[in-house]
Amino acid sequence: MSVVNETGQMTTISIEQAGKYDGQEVTLKGWLYNLRESGKLLFPIFRDGTGIIQGVCALQENPEAFESLKGLTQESSVIVTGKIRAEKRAPGGYEIGVSKIQIVQKVPESTPFPIQLKEHGVDFLLDQRHLWIRTPRQAAILRIRAEAIRAAREFMDGQGYTLTDAPMFTPAACEGTSTLFEVNYIDDQKAYLTQSGQLYAEAIAMALGKVYTFGPTFRAEKSKTRRHLTEFWMLEPEAAYVEIDEIMALGEGLVSAIVQGVLKNKSRELETLKRDTTKLEKVKPPFPRISYEDAVAVLNKNGNPAKFGDDFGGDEETIISSSFDRPVLIHHYPTSIKAFYMQPDAQRPELALAFDMIAPEGYGEIIGGSQRIHDYDLLLKRLHEHKLPEESFQWYLDLRRYGSVPHSGFGMGLERTVAWICGTEHIREVIPFPRMIYRVYP
Ligand code: 4AD
Ligand code: MG
Repeated sequence: MSVVNETGQMTTISIEQAGKYDGQEVTLKGWLYNLRESGKLLFPIFRDGTGIIQGVCALQENPEAFESLKGLTQESSVIVTGKIRAEKRAPGGYEIGVSKIQIVQKVPESTPFPIQLKEHGVDFLLDQRHLWIRTPRQAAILRIRAEAIRAAREFMDGQGYTLTDAPMFTPAACEGTSTLFEVNYIDDQKAYLTQSGQLYAEAIAMALGKVYTFGPTFRAEKSKTRRHLTEFWMLEPEAAYVEIDEIMALGEGLVSAIVQGVLKNKSRELETLKRDTTKLEKVKPPFPRISYEDAVAVLNKNGNPAKFGDDFGGDEETIISSSFDRPVLIHHYPTSIKAFYMQPDAQRPELALAFDMIAPEGYGEIIGGSQRIHDYDLLLKRLHEHKLPEESFQWYLDLRRYGSVPHSGFGMGLERTVAWICGTEHIREVIPFPRMIYRVYP
């Protein structure tokens, strides 16, 4: 039987739907991923972005299709018609018996597709990123990224948070002046690319109550670690009348919603990545919580010389997270090592009402957040201590002049979160076109 639409043409299906069309003749639109030739039989593998499917084409039964397919170059674009049938040994469990093939564009033999089905060095692959994303592993990662975003937004919307947007051009720093990208704005005015939408989200929270931004942020990170990009995406909730404990619980709910969403809706992709999902299944609230001071004690017990006032780096984060099977929340950091806007603890002002969420398996900090200073005089004092230009922050001080309330928020780094869920070595693989210290091409 063949699947024919109202206009009398064969119905085009996507490869991921193939199982629903067992025994039927259908059309697929995609690319030739690989071709194995064995005398009078050809075994092509097609991909269409939703998956890969193995094909079979016999000279005797389909001589025309056989001639078109024979010698066809990798990544040539093709429209394929044939019957779907269950085949246990084939990847995905189905194959297509090719009866007709239309070549949309043949990749010239003189310029073969640069990415072969073998191991390549990562620098080569990054130069070919525009083509590398076609390979099954990279495509699976990008689909998981999309699901992470979908699940995150569904969760935030369900919690009564309104999606909003912060500007990309800003007059001032939010997260320290050392990683600012300066932009030559119109007529030599100075501007910077945003490091975080937070300060603007605070203003919008005073207008709408509970909000979140989700967008790209920029940091001139001169570090070459597997956790740093110069352009990355952040989801940033901000809520009026919400204090530290409530915002920590929101972060916990958000991260588990993302992980559970990916497990439920992207199991095939996780399989492509050979991700150990038993570890992800455990990611459900409550997450363990530990104060900064207790974390220092844990580090010391493990032979790490950290002392009060030290910032934690990747090594410290890995030691702390390794004793837990789900993300851990570290809270009450020293005020001295945190951002200017963080609210000090009422009893112990040397500690900030701040928290970080550290992912398991050595993926490091995925969330940073805090309660914000709501007192005008204290905020002004902090701006001066941090040598930030008061003029640029007048609008931000206004939020403490007009109906100031306790409020809190955090930023979740999308790429770090997705890298952990996918189990990738480096976060550069989880964004379509990574921007890093020495890379802005392609
Ligand atoms: O801890 P950070 O610097 O916090 C802020 O920017 C706050 N203003 C957010 C807020 O409260 N609204 O960054 C938040 C998260 C980090 O936990 C990390 O996941 C990610 O952003 N991040 C990076 N991801 C990739 N590359 C980088 N260079 C990153 N820097 C931070
Ligand atoms: Mg941080």
